[in-house]
Amino acid sequence: MIDSTQYLTPAQIVAELDKYIIGQHDAKRNVAIALRNRWRRMHATPEMQKEIVPNNILMIGATGVGKTEIARRLASIADAPFVKVEASKFTEVGYVGRDVESMVRDLVEQAVNMVRIKKKEEVKVQAAQAVEDIILDALIPPVSQPAPRVAPSVGFLENENKEPETDQELNERTREKFRLMIRNGELDERKIEIKVSQTANPGIGVMAPGMDDVSMMNIQEMIGGMLPKKQKKRKVSIAEARKILLDEEAAKLIDMDEVKEEAIKKAQDSGVIFIDEIDKVASASGKGGSGPDVSREGVQRDLLPIVEGSSVNTKYGVINTDHILFIAAGAFHVAKPSDLIPELQGRFPIRVELQSLTKEDFYQILKFPKNALTKQYEALLASENVTLSFNDESLEKLAEIAFEVNSEVENIGARRLHTVMSRLLNDILFDVPDKIGANAHIAVTKEMVEERLNDMVKNRDLSQYIL
Ligand SMILES: Nc1ncnc2c1ncn2[C@@H]1O[C@H](COP(=O)(O)OP(=O)(O)OP(=O)(O)O)[C@@H](O)[C@H]1O
Ligand SMILES: [Mg+2]
Repeated sequence: MIDSTQYLTPAQIVAELDKYIIGQHDAKRNVAIALRNRWRRMHATPEMQKEIVPNNILMIGATGVGKTEIARRLASIADAPFVKVEASKFTEVGYVGRDVESMVRDLVEQAVNMVRIKKKEEVKVQAAQAVEDIILDALIPPVSQPAPRVAPSVGFLENENKEPETDQELNERTREKFRLMIRNGELDERKIEIKVSQTANPGIGVMAPGMDDVSMMNIQEMIGGMLPKKQKKRKVSIAEARKILLDEEAAKLIDMDEVKEEAIKKAQDSGVIFIDEIDKVASASGKGGSGPDVSREGVQRDLLPIVEGSSVNTKYGVINTDHILFIAAGAFHVAKPSDLIPELQGRFPIRVELQSLTKEDFYQILKFPKNALTKQYEALLASENVTLSFNDESLEKLAEIAFEVNSEVENIGARRLHTVMSRLLNDILFDVPDKIGANAHIAVTKEMVEERLNDMVKNRDLSQYIL
C-alpha cells in the first residue's frame, strides 16, 4: 500500500509547478491529473487496473514555451526518476528498430542513483565513524598486541597502586587525542597515505553481432566482478581523504540488492519518461509513405509496446512499464498528432496545447520563478559581494526586446531571455571583480537596457548573430 500523504493532490501539484513555470495552466492541470491518476489506478483492484488506460500526455507547443520544463519539474516534485529522450534519435542510421528500450534502462539507472544517494545519506553517520578510524590508523598505526613489558627493575619509587601504562594504553590515549583533532578539522591539511580501490575496467568494448546492450552489460559486470579490485595507494590531505573514503565506506554499508529492488519499484511506480520531438517521427505525408517515412513509422511501432506496458530487461532486473508516465511533446508545425499511427495516438489520450508566450509572460518569467534568470545572475554576482538588482521598467524593457527579436528573427520562446540577459550583463560579468569591486551595487534600469541592447534590436543582421 502506498502512503497517500506523500502523494500531492492535483491542486498541490499545480501550486508547486506555479513556483517555476509561468502560465500554461492547461498543461499544468493535465499533468497534475495524470500524476494523481497513476496513484488512483494503483489503488484500484488488479482486474480494474488492467482496464484503466494510463493517462499519457501529448504536449503540443512551439519551442521554448515550457514543455520540457513542466515535465522535468513534475518529476522532481514527485521525487520521481525522470528521463528525456528525443524520438527522432531513434530514426538515425544504426538506430533503426533498435534500442528504444534503452529509455527504460536509463530510467532504472536514474532510479538506482536516486535510491543509492538516499541510502548513503542514511548511513552517513556510520560511514563517517569508519572513515575517522581509517584516517586515525593512517596517522597512528594501532598496536596490535600489547607488548610484554619488562617489569621495571627500579620500580620501588613508583606508586604501587598505579599500573604502569602499557604501550597499548598509551597508543589508545594518543589516538583519542588525535581523533578529536581530526574531528575538529585541525589536521585537515596534513597528508596521509590511503588505499583507494579503483573500479576495474575490463576494457572490453567489442560487441558481438546480435548481442544487445543487456547481455553486453552483464558480461562487463561479470568480468568486472571477477577481476580483483585494484587498490592504489595515494597520498592526500586528510580533508581530501575524508571525501574519498566517505563515499567508499558508505558504499560498503549499503546493500546493493536492496537498492536494486527498491529502484526497480521506484522506476516502475513513479517513473516519468519524456519523449521529445515526437512530431519528428510522424509521417507528414500521411499513411504508408516510403523511405524515411517507413523508418519513422518503425520508431512509432517500437515505442508502442513500451508505452502500452511491457517488461524490459535491465541489468538491475526486469521492469514492467505499465505504470510509467509517458509524456510526449512536439511542436507539430508540419505533422499533426493525427499523423501518428492510430495505436500510438490512442496511448496518448490527453492532448494539451501550450500557449505561445507573450511580452507579459516574459516579464513574469524574468521576475517570479524561483529559478528566474534575474535571481540566477544576482546569485552569481553575490558570490563576489556585488549586488545586482533590476527595477520593473528594466524587466519590462527586457521582455519587450526579447519578444521583438523573437518575432523578427526567430521564435525560440523563453530561451530568448537567456541570450538577451547574457548580452546585457556580459561586460559587467567581465569587469567584476577587477573594475567593479566588492560591495558595489549595480542597479539595472530601463535606460541601461536600452543603451546596451537597442542597436542590436534595430539591426536585424546583428541580432541574428548576437541575440
Ligand atoms: N512558461 C515558462 N515559465 C518559465 N520559464 C519558462 C517557460 N517556458 C520556458 N521557460 C524557460 O525557457 C527554457 C526553455 O524551455 P523548455 O525547455 O521547457 O522548452 P520546450 O518547450 O521544451 O522547447 P523545445 O520544443 O525546444 O524542447 C527553460 O530554461 C525554461 O526555464
Ligand atoms: Mg524541450
